[in-house]
This record gives sequence, C-alpha cells and structure tokens, in this order.
Amino acid sequence: MRIDILSVVPSLLESPFAASIMQRAKDKGHVEIYIHNIRDYSTNKHKNVDDYQYGGGAGMVMSIEPIAACIEKLKGERGYDEIIYMTPDGKVLEQSDCNQLSLCKNIIILCGHYKGVDERIRQHYITREISIGSYVLSGGELAAAVVVDAVVRLIPGVLNDETSALTDSFQDGLLSPPVYTRPEEYRGWRVPDVLLSGDPKKVDEWRETEALKRTQERRPDLLGE
Ligand code: ADE
Repeated sequence: MRIDILSVVPSLLESPFAASIMQRAKDKGHVEIYIHNIRDYSTNKHKNVDDYQYGGGAGMVMSIEPIAACIEKLKGERGYDEIIYMTPDGKVLEQSDCNQLSLCKNIIILCGHYKGVDERIRQHYITREISIGSYVLSGGELAAAVVVDAVVRLIPGVLNDETSALTDSFQDGLLSPPVYTRPEEYRGWRVPDVLLSGDPKKVDEWRETEALKRTQERRPDLLGE
C-alpha cells in the first residue's frame, strides 16, 4: 500500500511512523508513506497556504490552489482508491472502515488546519471524510497517524502473528476478554484457574463469556442495546 499524506506541519508526522510496527511494515515493503508539505505547492511569494474566509469571521481557511496542485500532481502519477480528509465533522472511524481501507492500493490523506479547507476541495477531490472522535484537535496530523496505524497493522504480513489482528477488540463486534501472563500469582492476585486448566474448550468458552460481559458493561452500543 502507498499512503501520501498532505500536511502543513509535516514534522508532526515523523515519529509515529518511525518505530515499532509501522517502521517494520515499511522495512518489509508492506507500506510506503510519503509526507508532502502543502507549503511547497504554494505559488505566492510568502508561501501562504491559508487566507481569510469569505463572509468574514474569525479563523483562516486553507486555500484551494496548493492543495489542488499537490493532489493533481499525485493523481497524474497513479490512480488513488481514496482521497481522505481528516476533519472533526467526518464519519467517526470504526474498525470496519479500517478493514476496508486496508484493502486499498493507494490512498491520499489530507490533514486539515485552521478553520478547515475551502469547501471546493471537499466537493471536487475528497472521496471520504474521517473523524477520529467527537473532539477537536489542533490539526488533522495526529488523526491521520491514528488512521494509518489502525489500517497498516491490518495489511496481511504486517503483524507477526496474523491471527492477532483477527482477535482484536471490535473485529467480531465485541471487546477483547482480559489477558494474563506470568506469574500465576502476584501479591495473592491469582490468574483465573480456567486459564491454567489446559482445557482449550473451557478457555474458549471463558473468553467468549468475558468478552460479552465486558462489552455489555462498557460498550452496550456495540450489542445494539
Ligand atoms: N482534525 C481536528 N480534529 C479532528 C478529529 N477529531 N478527527 C479528525 N480530524 C480532526
């Protein structure tokens, strides 16, 4: 998968992709991530990327020209499955969206700033608008990093144990059950006996029950209640 990210603060995007699973995914050739500084596409002498909004009001708006120039250059080089705009008024991201996006070959992600982008960008270039939750960040970069992380780990071969993405919370519509590792007992706090029983059927049943219990307690909305 190739991911092109358009940003006015590219330095915000350096570290999230330079460690751990994301770095390994890049090293193994599962994903290529390119960060584009929108300012490089500004044609005016001050390298401006924003302007006052028509109709007045506080806050600047990201201008159409540099963003359009960058998107059109990229589209001239290859086809894109999705051109995504990160915005608090987009569709709130869910695991099912990440599953879909993990099947894409090429995607562009545009990070918003200030009051947002000129509406004509959204109308004429953007194919999908994503929010990572009902709160406002200073810019779309951290949100884009969240999307990229959640999507890239689903690309086959990225995780060592391929089944581990399948047993993630949300993949089966439930939260994950509790997990334990050694020691068996710490300050008298014991690992549940069933996990030490060596009976895989019992363990599976326990995990299912616990997943359901946890989902009912914490996210009853997932059960449609
Ligand atoms: N930009 C600012 N806030 C955001 C959010 N919650 N989700 C996506 N992009 C954003």
